[in-house]
Amino acid sequence: MAHEAAHFADRAWHGTVAVIENVPLARDTYRVRFDCPELAARITPGQFVMLRIAGGDDPLLGRPLALYDTVLDAEGNPRGIDVVYLVVGKLTRRLAELRPGARLEVWGPLGNGFPVYEAEHLILVAGGIGQTPFLALAREQRGLRVYGQAPRAVSSSPRRITFCYGARSQEYLAGLDDFASLGIEVCTSTDDGSAGHHGFVTDLVAAALEERSTVDRTAADARRVVCCGPEPMMAAVARIAAQAGVPCDASLETPMACGLGICFSCVVRVRTGEPVESSPWDYRRSCVEGPVFDAARIVF
Ligand SMILES: Cc1cc2nc3c(=O)[nH]c(=O)nc-3n(C[C@H](O)[C@H](O)[C@H](O)COP(=O)(O)OP(=O)(O)OC[C@H]3O[C@@H](n4cnc5c(N)ncnc54)[C@H](O)[C@@H]3O)c2cc1C
Ligand code: FES
Repeated sequence: MAHEAAHFADRAWHGTVAVIENVPLARDTYRVRFDCPELAARITPGQFVMLRIAGGDDPLLGRPLALYDTVLDAEGNPRGIDVVYLVVGKLTRRLAELRPGARLEVWGPLGNGFPVYEAEHLILVAGGIGQTPFLALAREQRGLRVYGQAPRAVSSSPRRITFCYGARSQEYLAGLDDFASLGIEVCTSTDDGSAGHHGFVTDLVAAALEERSTVDRTAADARRVVCCGPEPMMAAVARIAAQAGVPCDASLETPMACGLGICFSCVVRVRTGEPVESSPWDYRRSCVEGPVFDAARIVF
């Protein structure tokens, strides 16, 4: 595996930024926008930032949060970063109380992020707060925005993007309007049946893979699944995709302490050889070698 990559953390920007707005999107779910042209110009879909409350030490360690989207100024230049978070613990509880003008300590962009996919049918699968990396990805794949300093060329955007999004109940579904505004198919599921399909998001994936479509399934990588969410869900999605013979990437939400490749708190087991299923595994740091991995190689 390469030890030198454009996303390695020695190129990360580190500084203090101002909150522009911090608004509720769904139950216990907020979108915080901060001003940071240096990060906004460089970050690409699937990358993340580490975030702390500036000037304090509780919590001491930063927390990883994915890019939801960049915000453009009046001239169309990237200026701000949007991050969407679910309140689960210390940092996110404190974050939810912040008002415009509050200061955050941020470092990034971090992680490998998503590649530009060539698939004709891209199936994005989110469980819980796992929807956050997919807005920018879908926007880029639809050719609606360019991300990164060496802008990534989306040669042939997928003919079809299906976004399968599962949550505990309707009140936790966040950002549906944002996704719908991209002109992609949005399919939802809830565990309690309060919105969309009554059941798990894996049912939606299976249905999307089974359905008759105009995509030439014999073409290599004609369809591609990309998932993010709780590990058991991603393991199930990886199995369903493998059974259908469709490649699948997973963006992991592994807890991280540094985000910079130093502490090894974020390691995951990844199969390194061929054939994949029986090859040995080794540890990979999710913060610098991930968080996006070929799901078939992850030992869940
Ligand atoms: C690359 C990446 C991107 C991510 N993107 C997002 C995102 O966009 N939005 C988002 O909301 N989250 C995202 N996450 C997850 C987020 O980083 C974590 O949920 C983070 O820990 C939240 O910080 P916190 O301080 O609020 O919660 P923490 O205090 O870190 O708690 C996190 C979880 O662990 C549990 N917990 C805490 N302490 C203990 C303990 N001692 N024993 C057992 N359980 C405990 C809590 O109950 C909670 O469920 C991402 C993670 C990664 C790796
Ligand atoms: S979080 Fe420290 S090495 Fe990955």
